[in-house]
Amino acid sequence: MHRLICVMKPEIVHDLVRSIEAKDLSTAAHTWRVVLYTRALAEAMGLGQDEIHALTHAAALHDVGKIDIPSKILQKPGRLTDEEFEVIKLHPVAGHARMVDMGVDDEAVLDLIRHHHERWDGRGYPMGLKGEEIPVAARFFSVIDAFDAMTSVRPYRPVIGEDAAEMAIAELEANKGTMYWPEAVDAFVDLYRTGKLDYVIEHFNDSKQVQPFSVELKPGAGRPVIDGTIRD
Ligand SMILES: [Fe+2]
Repeated sequence: MHRLICVMKPEIVHDLVRSIEAKDLSTAAHTWRVVLYTRALAEAMGLGQDEIHALTHAAALHDVGKIDIPSKILQKPGRLTDEEFEVIKLHPVAGHARMVDMGVDDEAVLDLIRHHHERWDGRGYPMGLKGEEIPVAARFFSVIDAFDAMTSVRPYRPVIGEDAAEMAIAELEANKGTMYWPEAVDAFVDLYRTGKLDYVIEHFNDSKQVQPFSVELKPGAGRPVIDGTIRD
């Protein structure tokens, strides 16, 4: 069995996810979306079930380091000072350390958590890795995280326009080769254009009540069971 699954009981993952959502003022719908985008992309890339399982856990926990960042900075309504942003930039390393402390040793999981804010052109953080120095899992996830951020309700952006997804896709395309690995953008845009993300975008948006995230991937009574494929 996969090492990650051995060391991380579902209750522990759920507790961590709730803590991240509370700290980051994000929603269960946000967690579901990044997990389901990750799963869809991993399936499209032809990864095996073990890898998909590990990467979906990593997606759910990508911001776990935010638990260690003060709420008054994370939840500050106005613009962050440079110093405050420097503190927020510690979250990938803090999250990586937290996972290592818990006994997680899956490289893809640790890489995704530590490097999800790196940029293809080397101007990201925490290490400023560039191009192929950036682990593949993190190159893919940064595209997912960016798309979700651009299509999410946030305290400073309470309403999302109908064209938000199209605008986010255009933004990903515009930053292909600078912020993002071109192949990751192409793969994600292909999923979007072929309608494979429609279900997630429609059913897990922030205006709907969504069951708390569960690693068993069962959104709950009255909702479809997701057991390998997303069903209508
Ligand atoms: Fe992050």
